[in-house]
Amino acid sequence: MADRNVTEKQVMEALSTVKEPELGRDLVSLGFVKDVAIRDGEVSFTITLTTPACPMKDQMRRESEQAIRSRFPQVKEVRVGFEARVRPDKRIQEKLSLPIKNIIAVGSGKGGVGKSTVSVNLAVGLAAEGASVGILDADVYGPNVPMLMGVSELPPPDGEKLVPARAFGVEVVSMGFLMGGDDALVWRGPMIHGALKQLFSDVLWGELDYLVVDLPPGTGDAQLSVAQLVPLTGGVVVTTPQKVAVSDARRGVTAFRRLNVPVLGIVENMTGEIFGAGGGKAAAAELDVPFLGSIPLDPDVVRMGDEGRPPAAAGQHGPTAEAFRALARAIAARVSVQQFEKESAAR
Ligand SMILES: Nc1ncnc2c1ncn2[C@@H]1O[C@H](COP(=O)(O)OP(=O)(O)OP(=O)(O)O)[C@@H](O)[C@H]1O
Ligand SMILES: [Mg+2]
Repeated sequence: MADRNVTEKQVMEALSTVKEPELGRDLVSLGFVKDVAIRDGEVSFTITLTTPACPMKDQMRRESEQAIRSRFPQVKEVRVGFEARVRPDKRIQEKLSLPIKNIIAVGSGKGGVGKSTVSVNLAVGLAAEGASVGILDADVYGPNVPMLMGVSELPPPDGEKLVPARAFGVEVVSMGFLMGGDDALVWRGPMIHGALKQLFSDVLWGELDYLVVDLPPGTGDAQLSVAQLVPLTGGVVVTTPQKVAVSDARRGVTAFRRLNVPVLGIVENMTGEIFGAGGGKAAAAELDVPFLGSIPLDPDVVRMGDEGRPPAAAGQHGPTAEAFRALARAIAARVSVQQFEKESAAR
């Protein structure tokens, strides 16, 4: 047989020339290649990804295929399979005994910039990429995540525990469900803290790769409460395209830094003819944090928000849907890299 000389060892050697682009190390030394099989002119193997929402998946498929084909012309077919293993931020399990691997907080320097819209579409986009995801609406002043996801109530509780609602493959819990019709403005700090605590501890969260937390606008007590209650893996700051974005984003980034929350990066929302473009990137450069992507200003975002249909959901198409899913992948990649660097530093 033509391929009888290709061995597993040679396949591994070939794949050791392929880098995991985000981590900057080769797939084999990372231990990311397994199940190598060589049969009838066909080489197959599985690559372990650090997230199902990996933005580099296609590149790794191409490069590893190329690495095999260029060395072994007799190989007729290369089959690359993928599996994903999201690394846990161990502090979450240690502090809260929650089966959640990463908690991503979404904040902003000021209100109305699209924080809730980005939170919802981040959660739904990660789920559309195959991750297991929850969203916690911690906005005490205007909890609108349920509306954006078309959810109106929680299912009946399981004993003492609240059961999350489920929409677009995402587990959903909102401050709004606890507050009933109460006006948040009459809630005092301790009440808010208590309610937030309940949302983390008294909810039967599933085994989540990512829990997205939509923070209240501004940089006040509620943020502090959330950061005190749970270890936040990272914070995402949403800003707008205008020049003022730099000072708005600075407030958001500073708030996270003060709470010792690593900043995953800045998102520019509402990019387009009316508000322009570039404020988010400028802010990211100036504040020395990654720029995660921009989301177009699109009237469909408003309409679909009102209808409870997030644009990032599986099956939605067009530039806005794709921008949200690309953002979800970029954020998942940042979380992976951060986690990897933390583990490497600990070794
Ligand atoms: N990319 C976009 N294109 C068009 N409209 C958008 C976009 N993103 C958000 N919006 C609209 O802007 C308004 C504010 O968005 P959203 O509620 O997400 O902001 P927020 O920052 O969470 O606000 P708050 O500070 O009140 O919590 C909503 O009407 C939403 O539909
Ligand atoms: Mg909001």
